Amino acid sequence: MSMQKRKILVTSALPYANGAIHIGHMLEYIQTDIWARFQRAQGHECYFAWADDAHGAPIMLRAQAENITPEELIERMNAEHQQDFVDFGLSFNNYATTHDEINRECVEMIYGHLEEGGYVVRRTISQFYDEQQGMFLPDRFIKGTCPKCKTEEQYGDSCESCGSTYSPTDLIDPRSAVSGTEPVMRDSEHHFVRLSEFENRLQNWMTSGRLQPEVVNKMQEWFEDGLRDWDISRDEPYFGFKIPGTDDKYFYVWVDAPIGYMASFKELAERENLDFEEWWAPGTETELYNFVGKDIIYFHTLFWPAMLMGAGFRTPTAVYAHGFLTVDGVKMSKSRGTFIQARTYLNHLNPDYLRYYFCARLGSGLGDIDLNLEDFVSRVNSDMVGKVVNIASRCAGFIQRGSNGKLAAELPEPDLYRKFLDQRELIADDFEQRNYQSAIRRIMALADEGNRYIDEHKPWQLNKQDDQQAKVQAICTQGINLFRVLMAYLAPVVPFTAATAAEFLGVSLDRWSDLDQPMLDVSINAFLPLMTRVDPLKIEAMIEDSKENLQSSDEPATPALDLADEITIDDFLKVDLRIAKIIDAKAVPEADKLVQLTLDIGGEIRNVFAGIKSAYKPEDLVGRHTVMVANLKPRKMRFGVSEGMVLAAGPGGSDLFILSPDDGAVPGLRVT
Ligand code: MSP
Ligand code: ZN
Repeated sequence: MSMQKRKILVTSALPYANGAIHIGHMLEYIQTDIWARFQRAQGHECYFAWADDAHGAPIMLRAQAENITPEELIERMNAEHQQDFVDFGLSFNNYATTHDEINRECVEMIYGHLEEGGYVVRRTISQFYDEQQGMFLPDRFIKGTCPKCKTEEQYGDSCESCGSTYSPTDLIDPRSAVSGTEPVMRDSEHHFVRLSEFENRLQNWMTSGRLQPEVVNKMQEWFEDGLRDWDISRDEPYFGFKIPGTDDKYFYVWVDAPIGYMASFKELAERENLDFEEWWAPGTETELYNFVGKDIIYFHTLFWPAMLMGAGFRTPTAVYAHGFLTVDGVKMSKSRGTFIQARTYLNHLNPDYLRYYFCARLGSGLGDIDLNLEDFVSRVNSDMVGKVVNIASRCAGFIQRGSNGKLAAELPEPDLYRKFLDQRELIADDFEQRNYQSAIRRIMALADEGNRYIDEHKPWQLNKQDDQQAKVQAICTQGINLFRVLMAYLAPVVPFTAATAAEFLGVSLDRWSDLDQPMLDVSINAFLPLMTRVDPLKIEAMIEDSKENLQSSDEPATPALDLADEITIDDFLKVDLRIAKIIDAKAVPEADKLVQLTLDIGGEIRNVFAGIKSAYKPEDLVGRHTVMVANLKPRKMRFGVSEGMVLAAGPGGSDLFILSPDDGAVPGLRVT
C-alpha cells in the first residue's frame, strides 16, 4: 500500500466552562477521537487540539453566583474537563482555554484584518436591557417565541426547533431569563461584521464537495434568507476580551471561541515546533476538520469561515456535524437520571464500553444517536466480549501451556488471514467517511469468522491428545493472528483494551500497515483480562447517582431556571400527597446517598428509597413525620421496589429537611 502522508488537524467544539462534561458532549468527543486515532493508525500526521470556551455572560453570572472570580471558575472547570477527557481516553495533543494570551493575540489580529478590509461597521442599536440586573441581556438570557416557526420558549439567538438564527429583538413576547422581568430597550453602539460581503466565497466553499448534504441544505436556506450583519460586540458587564480601541466593549464569545481552534493549535505548534503558516495559510495542503453538533452549524459554516476569509487564512476542509444523543429514545433528563455526567459514568463503567457503543451507532449523517441502555449491555457483551476478546481467550491458554508461549512458524490458513487483511481498505474507508457503524459491522463479521474457525478446529479436543500439540499450536497461532488484526482495526475505538492487548501480544497495534506481516515464531505474553462483561447493576447504580446529583447537588443555583413544563392545578391535584410516619429507616449499604424508609400512611405500609443519607442518621428518622407522594408508580431499583417518594427542602448536603417533629400529625392525611 503506497500512500501519501497527510497532515490533518481535527477539533471538537469547545465545551463551555460553566458546567460539567456529560455523555452528550462525549458523543462528539469520542467521534472526533476515533477519527484522529484512525488517521494516525494510517500513518498520517494528525493533531487533535481544542480548548474550553471560557467567555460569555453565563460564565460571568455563574462565577457571581459562586462568589468567585470568573478566572477561578474557568481554571477549576478546565482541570475537571481535562481529567474527564484523559479518563475517557481522548488522545488530544493540546487543550487550551479561550481566555489566554495566545487566543487574545489571534482574535485581535483577525479583527484587525477584518477592520482593514472594511468588513466591520459600527451602528447604534437599541437592545434589551434588564433594569433590575443592570445589564444588557445576552441572547441566551432572553426567551420568547421563535419569529420563524413560532415555537415557544426559544433563546434570543437561535431556535432549537427550526435551527434559524435571529437577533433577540425578533423574538415574539421576550422576557429576561435572569430576573424574569420584561426587558426594556436601550441604545448602545455595536460593531458588526458584514457577512454579505463573504456570500460568494462562502458559496464556493460550500460547494467544495466536503460538506454533508444536510449541512449544504441548511446553508442554502440561510443564503436564501439573506446574510445579515453579524453583531460581534457586547457591552459591560461581560467576561471576555476587550475590543481594541474601546473601553467598555467586548468581543462576543462566538468571535473568540472558534478562533480558539487556531490558538490551541498555535500553542501546540510553539511547543512542538510545527510551522504555523503551513497549517493556516490559504491554499495549504494541510487539512482542517471541525467536528460540531448540529446546533452550532451556523456559527461554523458562516461566521467562522467568513472570519478566516476576511483575515486571509485557510478555511476548514470540512465541518462535520453530528446529531444529538438521546437516552432510551428521549432527550437526556435529570429526573430520569439519564443526564449522565462524564465523571458519573467513569465512576461506574469502563470508558471503552461507551466508546464502542457510540462507534457502533454513529453514521456520517446528522441523525440523533440513541443510547439504549439494554442494547448497550447486550451489544458490548456480545460483540466485544463474546466475539473479539473470546478469540484471544480461547487460544491464549493453549499457546501458553502447550507451546511455552511461542507461536508457530507458519499460519495453517494463510488465506483466512488474507481475507481479514482484504477488508482493511473498506474498513478504512468507512472510518474516513465517519461511517463508523459500517466499519463495526465489517469488523464483527470478521470476528464471527474467527470464532467459526476455532469452533471448527476444536483445539480443546486435540489438546487432549499428546501427538496433536503441533496442530493445537497452529490453530491457536491462526486465532491469535486473527485477533491481532481485529484489535488493530478496533484500536482507535477501544484504546484501553487495545493497550492491554498489545501488552499481551507483545507488539504495537498502532499501525494498520504492520498487519502485512503475521506474527509467527515469536513469543506472546501471559493472557491479560481484556474486557469484562458489562454489569447491568452498575448501570442502575449510575442512573441512581445521576438522579441523586439533583437531590443533594453541590452546584449553586444557576441564574436561568430550567423549569419543567408548566402544569395546571388539575395536574397538581393528581399528585396525592400524604403525611407519612417513618416507622423504620435503614442505610442502604450499596448506595452512598440512599436510606430505605418504611412509611405508615395510615393503614398502608410503604417501602421508599430516599437520597437523604447525607442529612440524617437513619435511627434519628424513626418515629417522625414527613410528606410523601403516595400515588407514584412503584419503581424497581437495584435494592428493591420504591413505592413513592418523600419531599425534601433545603440547600442539599447535610441541610436537607423532610421532617416535622412528632407533634400529633395524622398519617394518611391528604395534603393536596
Ligand atoms: N461553546 C460552544 C461551542 C464553541 S465551538 C467554537 C458550545 N458548547 S457546548 O458545551 O454547549 O457544546 C459543545 C459540543 O457538544 C457542541 O458541539 C454540542 O453540539 C455538543 N453537545 C452538547 N450536548 C450534546 C448532546 N446531548 N448530544 C450530542 N452532542 C451534544 O456549543
Ligand atoms: Zn424556529
